[in-house]
Amino acid sequence: MTGGFLDNRAGLSGRVAAIVGGGGGIGASVTLALAAAGVDVVFCDIDAHTAAETRSAALALGRRAEAVTADATDPAQLAEFYKITAGFSQRLDIVVNVVGGVRRGPFMQRDAAEDAQDIRRNFGYVVDSVRHAVPLIRRGAHGGSIINFTTIEAHRGAATFAVYAGAKAATTNFTRALAVELGAERIRLNTVAPDTTPSNGNIAAMPADLPARMMALPEAASGAGMTMYVPMKQQPGTDDLANAVLFLASDLSSSITGTTLHVDGGTMAAAGFLDWPFGDGFLPVPLDGTLGRMFR
Ligand SMILES: NC(=O)c1ccc[n+]([C@@H]2O[C@H](COP(=O)([O-])OP(=O)(O)OC[C@H]3O[C@@H](n4cnc5c(N)ncnc54)[C@H](O)[C@@H]3O)[C@@H](O)[C@H]2O)c1
Repeated sequence: MTGGFLDNRAGLSGRVAAIVGGGGGIGASVTLALAAAGVDVVFCDIDAHTAAETRSAALALGRRAEAVTADATDPAQLAEFYKITAGFSQRLDIVVNVVGGVRRGPFMQRDAAEDAQDIRRNFGYVVDSVRHAVPLIRRGAHGGSIINFTTIEAHRGAATFAVYAGAKAATTNFTRALAVELGAERIRLNTVAPDTTPSNGNIAAMPADLPARMMALPEAASGAGMTMYVPMKQQPGTDDLANAVLFLASDLSSSITGTTLHVDGGTMAAAGFLDWPFGDGFLPVPLDGTLGRMFR
């Protein structure tokens, strides 16, 4: 054995991964973390420019890397990506479905076309992706690991995210059910649930004028919302999500299937408790410190 203790236990070196949405943001962190761990990577992304940059970075890490420009929500483009994946290597050990997202808004102000698009982007393509991936994983006859991105909103009543929350809950339970069905083949399926991590998708979910409105606040307000909301006091970064993927992809999690890793700095655990300012502290509701200032 040539690696260190953790490398040897993880067993990632020499494996092959397919990443759907692996070119930018969270997806790029996942692709490059896998490549740095010794995994050959084939990925698709809707953004050709970031995909090319990430492919170059993966090649610079000494791994084989292929980037395909494709919209994962288009069945024909997704099928073409998996055709290329089948030819990339004789083996496929790891599949990560990163693509997903939403724009926040009241349910009754949306139309059926938007709903269908969000269901496809957050659930439908995941089902298709897994259906393409499993026969390729089966060629190796030694199992594999599929990791689907869900969200904290799949686990709470996320007002103004209703269709997204429903679609992600479907992905979460699809993953759990298939983990049971494919367990005997040692094909593991798990989900990673971010909450708030800076990314283009995270920005796109909020109103377009929000960054300007936040910038207009006094400097002391910067970060104060996250200090109240995130128990660990800072948002996880894209590398924190990639670390969770590394764990679930590796032999370190070889008996873990059908579960969700919440990578959120503690917000899922807090379940509505906020760290209110002005001496109120952790509670679901503000007390006199905060209310006194709001209604003075
Ligand atoms: N960022 C967060 O705070 C957050 C919170 C909860 C859940 N999530 C989930 O994490 C995943 C990644 O989220 P993100 O949007 O923040 O990541 P991101 O903005 O970092 O996007 C990842 C990559 O996916 C690509 N992509 C987007 N749509 C695509 C498509 N249709 N086909 C192919 N590639 C596409 C993007 O170009 C990008 O390179 C999603 O499933 C999302 O629902 C993110």
